[in-house]
Amino acid sequence: MNICDSDMISETLLSYGAARVSSLADADIAVLNTCSVRAQAEQKAFSFLGRAEDFKKEKNPRLKIAVIGCMAQRLGTKIKKRFNTVDLIVGAKDIDNAAQLIMRLEVGRRREEGRINNTAATSSSLLPPTSYLSNIVRYVTIMRGCDNYCSYCVVPFVRGKEISLPVEQIYNECKNMAENGAKEIMLLGQNVNSYQFGDTNFAALIKKVSSIDAVKRIRFMTNHPKDLNDDLINTMASEQKVCAHIHLPMQSASNSILKAMNRKYAYEHYLGLVEKLRSKIPDINITTDIIVGFPGETEEDFQASLKAVKDIRFGGLYVFRYSPRPQTKASEMKDNIPLEEKKRRHAIILEESNKISIEIAAQSVGTVQEVLTEKYENAVLEARTRSGRKVFVKGGKEHLGKNINVLIKEAKINSLFGDIINP
Ligand code: 5AD
Ligand code: SF4
Repeated sequence: MNICDSDMISETLLSYGAARVSSLADADIAVLNTCSVRAQAEQKAFSFLGRAEDFKKEKNPRLKIAVIGCMAQRLGTKIKKRFNTVDLIVGAKDIDNAAQLIMRLEVGRRREEGRINNTAATSSSLLPPTSYLSNIVRYVTIMRGCDNYCSYCVVPFVRGKEISLPVEQIYNECKNMAENGAKEIMLLGQNVNSYQFGDTNFAALIKKVSSIDAVKRIRFMTNHPKDLNDDLINTMASEQKVCAHIHLPMQSASNSILKAMNRKYAYEHYLGLVEKLRSKIPDINITTDIIVGFPGETEEDFQASLKAVKDIRFGGLYVFRYSPRPQTKASEMKDNIPLEEKKRRHAIILEESNKISIEIAAQSVGTVQEVLTEKYENAVLEARTRSGRKVFVKGGKEHLGKNINVLIKEAKINSLFGDIINP
């Protein structure tokens, strides 16, 4: 979602005549989009702000610094106090206005410098690509905020109440992107399964986007096991454009921990979903998130999660060490698992999951996969299979944005390598 927001803002700024530069030394404005989901993300942002402050003081006093997103929402006043070099704070709830506010900074800066305050003259050759992402894959936000209040999670506090965006708006955005070269649309929300606008639920929204001719592939994230229903699973199975990948955060496989996390499902329910998904969509790639070291997580609880990783054999997973977040219910519980123990549990899950991911990836060696090519550089195309695996293929620019068949020759943990057949 942050990539999507950054992308939207930079596109608006580019359309106002700004150009993207690759170093702070060349920048008039630096925009830092921030995440609050884990403590580590906030520490990273603080250390960036420290470096930017030194840079501004010593090397480029003209630099304006804008901090936007979840951390700006949560800690705006503190950031302003700690870094007097920060010129603008825009919180996550106000993200739609960020580009306008940033542009006002630029106008102010020009006034200070006695320059004419209309937009900068830029030649099209100066403009970098219009997106951080490839233009072939575009992200579309379908809802904002979250009402789930998982006990460890800060998102409902910083992003606010869940709101589904209007169907027509989403449809038009997708259509517009596809008519401008996008082939794949990634629909985004904190919990896309609870999308509801009027009588349109998420499955109906997918069907609507799928009816756009120029859209060739549809992906979505992220999902909540309590809301993933048959309607969506059946739609995934029947709509050819919907990719065979689902990110379905499990968080834990211990029912007492799931309860303490306020996840509102038991492990058995999760397992039932996995079975149903695999029976209806045989080539589906299921990926997940797991938290280790949640308050009170015993060795037995941890072993349950480890066993689930072995039993389910996820195509990939992210594992996080629990960190208490302000305002959350879990932050009132004692963070009683020592860091060393969290690190041990983290490493064990990661090792097991890496082993499984390599085995799964290796199974595709020798198979032919239909891939969509997303990027091109130095005679190599970066592509993705329908199940979301990255594939590198030798080939020309003429293949960019195309669905091609690739014979997989080699598999590494996070990527496959292959050759185009019948180019
Ligand atoms: N500590 C550790 N991991 C967290 N996540 C969310 N909040 C926390 C926290 N306080 C993880 C969850 C979520 C992912 C985006 O981040 O696994 O799915
Ligand atoms: Fe956080 Fe839970 Fe909402 Fe996901 S569903 S954003 S983990 S509160």
